[in-house]
Amino acid sequence: MSATTAPRPALPGAVPGSLARPARTAVRWAVRHGLPAVYLSRSARRGDLVGRLMRDPSLREHPYDLYEQLRARGPLSGSSLGLVTTSHPVAQEILRSDRFGVGWDRSTAPAVIRWALEFGDDPTAAGVAEPPSMLVVDPPDHTRFRRLVSRAFTPRATAAFEPAIRRTAERLLDDLEGRDGTVDLVGAYAAQLPVLVIAELLGVPVERREDFLRWGAAAAATLDPGLPLRRFLSAEKALRSMHRFLAEHFTRLRREPGEDLVSRLVTLPPEEALTDRELHATVLLLLGAGFETTVNLLGNAVVLLDAHRDQWDALRAGTAGWDDAVEEALRIDSPVQLTGRSARADVELAGRTVAAGTRVTLLLGAANRDPDVFPDPGRFDVTRPDAREHLAFSGGIHYCVGAGLARLEGAIGLAALSERFPALRVAGRPQRRDLQTLRGFEVLPVRLT
Ligand code: HEM
Repeated sequence: MSATTAPRPALPGAVPGSLARPARTAVRWAVRHGLPAVYLSRSARRGDLVGRLMRDPSLREHPYDLYEQLRARGPLSGSSLGLVTTSHPVAQEILRSDRFGVGWDRSTAPAVIRWALEFGDDPTAAGVAEPPSMLVVDPPDHTRFRRLVSRAFTPRATAAFEPAIRRTAERLLDDLEGRDGTVDLVGAYAAQLPVLVIAELLGVPVERREDFLRWGAAAAATLDPGLPLRRFLSAEKALRSMHRFLAEHFTRLRREPGEDLVSRLVTLPPEEALTDRELHATVLLLLGAGFETTVNLLGNAVVLLDAHRDQWDALRAGTAGWDDAVEEALRIDSPVQLTGRSARADVELAGRTVAAGTRVTLLLGAANRDPDVFPDPGRFDVTRPDAREHLAFSGGIHYCVGAGLARLEGAIGLAALSERFPALRVAGRPQRRDLQTLRGFEVLPVRLT
């Protein structure tokens, strides 16, 4: 692939060329996942709640009681990962403050970690949580990337996608007609709708959607700290395939640009042009974020509505709105459960001084259940008037660029499903994805009629 490769720092001691790549992979895993895993596991054993949250697989099913334990410690508490907040106002303040950033000042890290990060760097396997992905860079670079993509996500541009979303949903539902027995709604519908929509928006061939889904599912794990080596390797393999696909796709579009966003990005005038690495990072993020999150919204919403049948019926009867149901599902079972920020300077926050460089983990899924903002927050209620106040799409300058599109896909996708299969029921135990940052279902067995 053609992503630019930064010059590597000399390894202490000679590493023959043929061993350089495996050595880099091993170092990358160790510094990003191996060491954090050891540290978090040790913290968890000592009773640290964030350590437990990150390491205890049983909490994947239901992290919400642990969030309440953390909330009882106050709006901002210490943890193995620096500070952590479950508070909606504190999370919102951090997200909107220019005293916090997503970037991390590597110069403060011990020399060996700095060396490992640099030596392990490999643009051919870079994930969405690595610079220069806009998700993890601060202004001015963030502003530059964001400006280039946000034109494709204005309310007007998003609304123009409505017919395509509707058409795609109906086509997928046509394929489900007549299917007896149990169907996996994630594989057959919830995952398909967003990937088809983002493929159209980005001008990538929809025939490759099964590849995207496979790659996306493996690569999503790189958002979580402490991955075991085997999962890390499979995520990196998927990322390499995605980057290879993107390199070929960019070449094709440079030759024959279309009307889509990626065509625009690859044909920018020289003064605006992205470097190869920036281009890969930007499009990889759009592609991944475009379908790896909305699938979770759809799956989580179906399970919630199945458990609250009166609300499904009210939505079908038109006495409640699908837009509101989407907001409430995003609030109560958020597809992105957490994010992080670092203080760029000493900051006064929630009655304490947060020192420059301190990392704060924002538990968005907990902030969205803050009882000071959402009365009786554990109650699913599609008529809740203030559900839209949730932070499921984050806030501040990194507010989800695809929020409008995701909302539209959610509302149209759910309404179309309920119209076609009004008697749909969950039939069997849905299986959660084995992920920490993203929350959704891997398998969702339903009976359609
Ligand atoms: C239900 C679906 C979705 C959810 C819950 C969601 C959630 C989020 C969250 C929480 C962030 C910010 C993370 C942070 O502040 O650290 C984010 C950023 C982002 N999302 Fe989404 N997202 C969804 C759908 C989409 C879609 C459909 C797209 C694209 C088509 C998209 C593209 C992006 C991009 C590009 C960013 C980075 C924005 C920036 O850093 O400025 N998302 N999303």
